[in-house]
Amino acid sequence: MNQAKHIAIIMDGNGRWAEAQGKKRIKGHEAGAKVVKEITTYCSNSQDIERLTLYAFSTENWKRPRLEVEFLMKLLDNYLKNELEVYLENNVRFEPIGDIRAFSKSLQKTIAMVQKETSHCDGLIQSLALNYGAQDEMIRAINTLKNQEGDITPEMFSNTLDCKHDVDLLIRTGGDKRLSNFLLWQAAYAELFFTNTLWPDFSTKELEKIIKKFNKVERRFGGLK
Ligand code: IPE
Ligand code: IPE
Ligand code: MG
Repeated sequence: MNQAKHIAIIMDGNGRWAEAQGKKRIKGHEAGAKVVKEITTYCSNSQDIERLTLYAFSTENWKRPRLEVEFLMKLLDNYLKNELEVYLENNVRFEPIGDIRAFSKSLQKTIAMVQKETSHCDGLIQSLALNYGAQDEMIRAINTLKNQEGDITPEMFSNTLDCKHDVDLLIRTGGDKRLSNFLLWQAAYAELFFTNTLWPDFSTKELEKIIKKFNKVERRFGGLK
């Protein structure tokens, strides 16, 4: 039986969830943040799951209206400050990925603070992908490695990425079947699950169902059964 040690989720559909109820898109992001908490807590209680990597803000999301971007930054700041206690209670280590240098100094400070305060936690590792794009991540790694002597090996490359761990199970909510620049290297052999459920409606129950299906998949990694 497969073990879903590293689960990655593209949390999509917040805006549509809000619009369907005649609400502003930002209400969907607020509702989505509650689900992040619920799913993280669930994963922290699982014996099998070691890592949960969540796509929160992409390198492409800066294209959104300024007010929505500003709201997302504020929401992230509040989320991290409010959830610190929950991270600690659940022994969850927070490890952001992405290029956070693009964020305001005060948001960078909050991110660093939560990372430091949870650095001793040895339960689940929750990575939020913040100003993350897989192409940007790979280009940054190439720039770091380019002056090394000799050939770059896959191990060297992988160890220079923000996320150094292969994904077992990649889930996208919201109905679209694309990766939107998420973990392109690490998901090389991930099992992909797409659900029409909008992120604010996603639940631990649905996650459990997906994990059960994942457990039964025959993963061959290019070999034979
Ligand atoms: C995902 O939900 C959250 C972020 C990208 C920040 P969306 O905001 O993309 O919601 P939809 O896809 O427009 O419904
Ligand atoms: C992917 O969702 C990014 C996050 C969930 C943070 P998007 O809504 O930005 O993706 P596209 O634009 O539909 O590909
Ligand atoms: Mg979307």
